[in-house]
Amino acid sequence: MSLLQMRNCDVYYGKAKTLHDISLDVEEGEIVSLIGRNGAGKSTLIKAIIGLMGLERGERLFDGRDVTGLAPEALSRLGIAFVPENRRIFAALNVDENLRIATVMGRTGAWDLRRIYRLFPRLEERKDTPGDALSGGEQQMLAVGRGLLTNPRLLLLDEPTEGLAPLIVQDLVAAMAAINAEGVAILLVEQNLKVPLKLAQRQYVIDNGRIQWHGQTGELLENQEKIEALISL
Ligand SMILES: Nc1ncnc2c1ncn2[C@@H]1O[C@H](COP(=O)(O)OP(=O)(O)OP(=O)(O)O)[C@@H](O)[C@H]1O
Ligand SMILES: [Mg+2]
Repeated sequence: MSLLQMRNCDVYYGKAKTLHDISLDVEEGEIVSLIGRNGAGKSTLIKAIIGLMGLERGERLFDGRDVTGLAPEALSRLGIAFVPENRRIFAALNVDENLRIATVMGRTGAWDLRRIYRLFPRLEERKDTPGDALSGGEQQMLAVGRGLLTNPRLLLLDEPTEGLAPLIVQDLVAAMAAINAEGVAILLVEQNLKVPLKLAQRQYVIDNGRIQWHGQTGELLENQEKIEALISL
């Protein structure tokens, strides 16, 4: 049984149909990538998964249960966490305060402040630094840490490596692998293949609001030229 199943979903902004007949699964403990260029529909699909956008047609299942009608708060309580594209760090709060706020919002479980600091030692060093004084990489670590403190079973990351220096990307890749090794499934959104090829077992390619290709990472490599064409600008 899949952890998350989106089945034949249509999503609209007003009258504009933005997602067309989308089906996507994430299995328990898996890393899956959703890849597509600017405006392809990645963030809209993430919003549909977490309940911020309603489904005009189709179904959302989590852990085998139909959760199509549930609101974002309810889905979060079931164990879906979301790290948005813009990271949404509280600028006026320091690192430690940003993390502590997440602990009061989430489910209880194995992820606590101590483990977040072990996963991201850099955050512990910057504990007292306000959110708006952090580098892009530190902000991303903090955003991921906040997501983990809700003790999710599924973590959705919307372009976590965008705009970050290669060394920081390496740290984040290692952190994502470590998080996944603790049993958290990850849906990783990216605009290119670099990080997905390193981390994910399966890949979905989206363009024009439709899943254009999906398959195992090995199969992607066999079709790499076609897929690069689908995602290049
Ligand atoms: N709030 C909105 N109202 C109307 N249309 C929107 C809204 N947000 C996005 N869109 C449109 O929906 C389509 C998909 O956008 P979406 O943000 O999901 O793309 P994306 O793949 O996340 O792109 P990016 O890589 O730039 O983040 C685009 O055509 C976009 O213009
Ligand atoms: Mg987006």
